[in-house]
Amino acid sequence: MFSHSVLNPMSPQGQAISNLFIFLMIAAGALFAGLPLTLAYTLPKYRHRPGQGDPPQTYGVLKMELVWTTIPILLLIGVFGATISTMRIAQPNAIKTVDLTVIGHQWWWEYRYPNGVVAANILHIPTGRRLNVALKSADVIHSFWVPELNGKMDAVPGQTNSLWLEADKPGIYEGACVEFCGTGHAWMRLSVVAQPPAQFDAWLRQQARPARQPSTAMQKAGARLFAQYACASCHLLRGRPSNTHLGSKAVVIAPDLTHFASRPFFGGGVLDNTPANLVTWLHDPNLVKQGVHMPNFQLTPSQIHELTAYLESLT
Ligand code: CUA
Repeated sequence: MFSHSVLNPMSPQGQAISNLFIFLMIAAGALFAGLPLTLAYTLPKYRHRPGQGDPPQTYGVLKMELVWTTIPILLLIGVFGATISTMRIAQPNAIKTVDLTVIGHQWWWEYRYPNGVVAANILHIPTGRRLNVALKSADVIHSFWVPELNGKMDAVPGQTNSLWLEADKPGIYEGACVEFCGTGHAWMRLSVVAQPPAQFDAWLRQQARPARQPSTAMQKAGARLFAQYACASCHLLRGRPSNTHLGSKAVVIAPDLTHFASRPFFGGGVLDNTPANLVTWLHDPNLVKQGVHMPNFQLTPSQIHELTAYLESLT
């Protein structure tokens, strides 16, 4: 499901990083191979032979000293220059207008769009547009990385870091948290869904709608359970009366579930979003994802099926 490659860049930022990587690889590879090759040639050729006197002494010869000091300095200046220019392409100095806010949580990703849409784990972006992303953390240090699109950037509590996110072509680009952030770190994955702008706008409009009303008896029972049990004290369903209080909270505790059924996976990538998997999850989240902050509510099988029917109707 998840494949990452820095060598398959899909954005100008990714391209710059990939170019730098290849340049450094060739430069370091030339040194790595050149040194033993030089030794293999010079050691037998110039070794001491019986009857030979001392070789010519080169201590303090200015010309040689200059050559072997200048070449490494030039190499390092080249590497430094290439790195700085890549950083300028890959990351903004500071962001003036924020197009998207990404917040790392133990252990999932929250995305906030300027129009109020909140999504989790699966990040939709329009193709061909450079987005100014503000990166934050709700708890500990995480690191946001989508290898095909840009370099790694830490999400640090109490601080906002900025990065550019852009995709040349429509597609799904996999990413992950790449800073150990606790038990659930391995299941803090993400997908970037890059769509043509018109398709992205349609998605954004759809996500801005309030949660669908339950229609069947099962769904209605599930909606009641959602409000009765503590679900609604952590998970927001935009437009549902039971939990509008969460909307104004500065720090969200758990993923917004307003359009839960539209996401291909949940739990930071631990399970594909299918009714059967949701049943497994609701039975005991900790059995599926160790350390997860969602408790086991000891739901009965019929309650689990009602909740599943409701949540899977939230397209
Ligand atoms: Cu978040 Cu590792």
